[in-house]
Amino acid sequence: MKKAKLFLTAALTSLAMAVFPMAAPVAAEETEVTEISIKDAFAEHGIKAGTCLSPYMISNADLSGIITEQFNSVTMENAMKPDYIFDKNASITAGYPVVEFNSDALAMMNWAKEKGFSLRGHTLVWYSQTPDWIFHEEFNSAKPLVTADVMLDRMDHYISQIFSTLEEKGYADLFYAYDIVNEGVNDDGTLRDCLWRQTIGDDYIWYAFYFADKYAPETIDLYYNDYNEQFKYNGLVKMVETLVDEEGNYLIDGIGLQGHLYTKDDLNTYFRAMETLSATGLKLQVTELDVSLGTWQNVLAADEETLAAQKDFYHDLVRGIMERIDSGKINMDALTFWGFADHLSWRGDRSPLLFDKSLNAKPAFYGVIEGAAK
Ligand code: GLA
Repeated sequence: MKKAKLFLTAALTSLAMAVFPMAAPVAAEETEVTEISIKDAFAEHGIKAGTCLSPYMISNADLSGIITEQFNSVTMENAMKPDYIFDKNASITAGYPVVEFNSDALAMMNWAKEKGFSLRGHTLVWYSQTPDWIFHEEFNSAKPLVTADVMLDRMDHYISQIFSTLEEKGYADLFYAYDIVNEGVNDDGTLRDCLWRQTIGDDYIWYAFYFADKYAPETIDLYYNDYNEQFKYNGLVKMVETLVDEEGNYLIDGIGLQGHLYTKDDLNTYFRAMETLSATGLKLQVTELDVSLGTWQNVLAADEETLAAQKDFYHDLVRGIMERIDSGKINMDALTFWGFADHLSWRGDRSPLLFDKSLNAKPAFYGVIEGAAK
């Protein structure tokens, strides 16, 4: 396997100084990134280090090598989304949606099992990447939407089969968290419109957690996952606080903060969002972290200066999160990056990750390691 070589001597020197304050600078040629890992650095704070996973990543030795060296948790980037987990013909025959994990999902679950990874499930109830036909009479998109009662019955079958299938196939134990609902809240805190809502009603999120709580093994934490968390955290708090049973106990275990950020974002606002969300008493996870260069409106090109700013941002973000974990201000057991190599990222044009397209560690990698250093 080709080892990822160090990107900058300066970065390593500062890393060596951070980890071993008295250490002499180490020559870049002699040292490989493989000697330090995100998962070891995060383990010091009791949390898992995750990446998203695609079929290509497990088929490529260089990529899977980095994953096994750096991470201990994976989330499938696409293969477990609703678009990929139903068998339409079987659903028409059965009269309810039939779950059938495809060969990519099975291959990645087998890979994760063999290599000893933990898994985050992603995702069940979402407005996007979901087949329209599950909402229509006779599973035919040309027919009217079904009634609330029918859609609730379909949701019940759907969620129960997810967990029974994972158990039957021997994968359930790999999962420690599952995104039950993804992106249900608008930036202004109102409920997003979607076919789940149009069929079931405003309480569709409640029902999703009700069924997940009923069918998921106790060992899998049930998450609500969303983006722009630093803007809509008050709306998120209001929504998750409704996810309780008759006795007032939560049906949900945690809030997933996607963490699709920019180097010019305000970290104080981000930490305020985290602490406010944590005050609900729920766990938090960062689930899809990537830090693009510049701002949403004005993406900057990668150069020495912008990559150094990205390193600082990752450092300060990770440091701030670890301090809050260590002091008990937030209850977090995992931080997942939405990939690791820029060219494979959904935001590949914005250089948001820790390794470049040649799989060299970027300054951002060292920002993360130094931020997590005790
Ligand atoms: C959202 C979803 C992810 C993924 C990204 C884009 O954040 O939760 O599954 O689709 O968008 O890659």
